[in-house]
Amino acid sequence: MTLPSSARSTMTPVSEVLDADGGPAIPPVLREESPRSFGTDDLNVDRYLSREFLELEYNKLWSRVWQWACTEDDIPNVGDHTVYEIGDRSVLLVRSEPDRIQAFYNSCQHRGRLLADGPGQAASFVCQFHAWTYNLDGSLKSLPCEWDFPQVEADRARFGLRQVRAERYGGFVFINFDDRAAPLADSLDVIPEHFKHFPLEHRFAVANVSKILPINWKAGMEAFLESYHVVATHMQALEFTGDANTQYDIWDTVSRLYTVTGVPSPHLSQDYTEADIFEAAAAAFAPPGAEIPPLPEGATARGVLAAMTRQMIGPMVGLDLGGRSDTEVLDSIEYFVFPNWFPWAGIAQGLQYRFRPNGMDPDSCIFDVKLLLPFNPDGPRPPSAPLRTLATEESFTLVPELGLFGQIFDQDFSNMAAIQKGMKTHGKPGVTLAEYQEARIRHFHQLLDKWLEL
Ligand SMILES: [Fe+2]
Repeated sequence: MTLPSSARSTMTPVSEVLDADGGPAIPPVLREESPRSFGTDDLNVDRYLSREFLELEYNKLWSRVWQWACTEDDIPNVGDHTVYEIGDRSVLLVRSEPDRIQAFYNSCQHRGRLLADGPGQAASFVCQFHAWTYNLDGSLKSLPCEWDFPQVEADRARFGLRQVRAERYGGFVFINFDDRAAPLADSLDVIPEHFKHFPLEHRFAVANVSKILPINWKAGMEAFLESYHVVATHMQALEFTGDANTQYDIWDTVSRLYTVTGVPSPHLSQDYTEADIFEAAAAAFAPPGAEIPPLPEGATARGVLAAMTRQMIGPMVGLDLGGRSDTEVLDSIEYFVFPNWFPWAGIAQGLQYRFRPNGMDPDSCIFDVKLLLPFNPDGPRPPSAPLRTLATEESFTLVPELGLFGQIFDQDFSNMAAIQKGMKTHGKPGVTLAEYQEARIRHFHQLLDKWLEL
């Protein structure tokens, strides 16, 4: 069943908040609504816990689906390379020419040793076992004692690195192990249309962080597919953000969460004023120590917060944000592209993250996040932040560039080990989901089931 759900919070919907906004015009794609319902059945808990299910995912999903492997600015110069791992597959991504990025199985064609352990810069790839050497385009360059390998001399091309398909969109590099898969564009659904207004290629990373989380990749990811958890997990945000009035839109392989800022949560008392909202939001968004003026008489918290954000971010990134609507600079507009890419639209909250399984362990996953800001494409591209790997127990607040997201992530991830452990002692075979607020989770599982042929 995919009819629109009638279940909704009674508080002001996103559409009415946007209707009431003054300021510049809102891009039409942000006014689109696409509610869907997938019923109310429980989801079997084994899919988060069993090694067999994880193996099925590797065999049927990850081996065939387009997946975000790296970004172009991870490897800006010819010879720059990085490694993407999914399960026991390792992929070497290299900028082999100024505008060419190639992906290879990260394995020497001699006896299979990994060629690269991680990011680096090289003129050629040299295997550390016997020094077989490959050009950046993957062709075999040289090997010691070539006289002893007549099979190589007879057919040198056969001993080049094995290519993995790689395609690019918006500064992101995607790979696919399946040579018969449809092109990447087919799996991006509404993304190219919706992100015309937010060109991802004109963004640079101010933060770039990776961390292993003690939870199944899907369960970890699902905490980011809904805003229902804000009331218990991010209580500080209730003072200045919507939560139960979040709008959820679902298309074919893409879904979206839309949470507005500077409006009262339905969980606050009725006498929480515009000035209260403004004060709490400004304190959360402004740099530490900044002086926060009182809300001018008759002004709305949203209007003033949007103006403050434009003034703060604009000069930082060399752009005049005067023409960007309040919602673009204020709100959380999080897209999800199956199976695991979360690109955010808007200006100030340019998060990009993904969750992927961690080897053969169903109880942990790898979380990678970048915070992107726009830059002026008429000027030089600012350098992107290098990767910082945090230990599982380390706080995201150790990365100050994440701003207020550091605390938010810490709150989200404080639940993870307890979710994974709690699901094992659940006492009932399924997890229960809200019909509307958690519809994106059902949508994800419906797509997953198709891939897994369940
Ligand atoms: Fe959260």
